[in-house]
Amino acid sequence: MRKRVIFITGASGEIGYELIRNLAADSNNHLLTFDLHELPEKVRPLVDHHIVSDLLNENELTRIVSEYEIDAIFHLAALLSTRAEITPELAHRVNVEGTLTLLRLAAEQSQWRGESIQFIFPSSIAVYGMPDLESKRIYQRVREFEWNQPRTMYGCNKLYCEMLGNYFSRHYRQLAASQPTPIDFRGVRFPGLVSAATLPSGGTSDYGPEMLHAAARGEAYPCFVREDTRIPFMVMPDAVHALLGLAAAPQEALSRRVYNVTSFSLSAEQFADRVRRAFPDAEITFAPDLKRQSIVDSWPADIDDSAARIDWQWQPAYDLGRAFEEYLAPRIRERYR
Ligand code: SER
Repeated sequence: MRKRVIFITGASGEIGYELIRNLAADSNNHLLTFDLHELPEKVRPLVDHHIVSDLLNENELTRIVSEYEIDAIFHLAALLSTRAEITPELAHRVNVEGTLTLLRLAAEQSQWRGESIQFIFPSSIAVYGMPDLESKRIYQRVREFEWNQPRTMYGCNKLYCEMLGNYFSRHYRQLAASQPTPIDFRGVRFPGLVSAATLPSGGTSDYGPEMLHAAARGEAYPCFVREDTRIPFMVMPDAVHALLGLAAAPQEALSRRVYNVTSFSLSAEQFADRVRRAFPDAEITFAPDLKRQSIVDSWPADIDDSAARIDWQWQPAYDLGRAFEEYLAPRIRERYR
């Protein structure tokens, strides 16, 4: 008998850290994790098995599928937006080809078992591309199907993988004599994520979490975007709550496969004010990097998540006040004590 597991790629990253802790709270869940790196020490005891390998290693992924019975895949592995601009071809390989391999394996498994494997995918505000600041000012809360003209490799990759997920769920092998059991792909488009436990690496919304963690460490922080730069953010417990909420929703309730989810939107200056309230000695200056600035300028000021609220009762637990006062400030203080 093969062991039944939930498979998590990119498990050593920021979302993985919080997701593992949540999933492991249910002793019925057996977790098989996969990443280029070892898991952070704190979550190591919570998983059944961790594999250090590369998503581009197709043989390794095929071996995993033959050894384990995978009930659900949380595919978190990706190169984030700044990193992906430095090595766009590698980003395409990891973000798109890696996802395609996993989708194909999930489709084969669904077929073999005669039941749909769930494929949960974090997408991003980076799939949006506002052409200029005037449009960003006028169209404040964008809906899923609007402004899908990303200007980063990462955004293009995420948008295309959403489409691949939809394709594998609805049209894969559409000309075959008998229709295969489809996979059950579901995605959420996250705003910038902020965690008290970990720091992001290689993203362009990183200025938020970076200024916060720098303040807690007593370090000066030159913010790489202008004061008036506005995008939405969400704290990590809500991000995981969104992934698990969407995974738990009955399929009949879902009117689409990819949903916006968000929590609060604020400017970099307002973010800095919140950081200063929590850490009065924080030294935050603004020294925009014009290239990274133009990426953030192309992301919407806010996103409309009413479809998620209606279809699967999505609601963030942390608004702006609670996020800083009850989660970020106390937990980050604790972390660097
Ligand atoms: N946080 C991501 C990034 O900055 C956006 O999804 O790349």
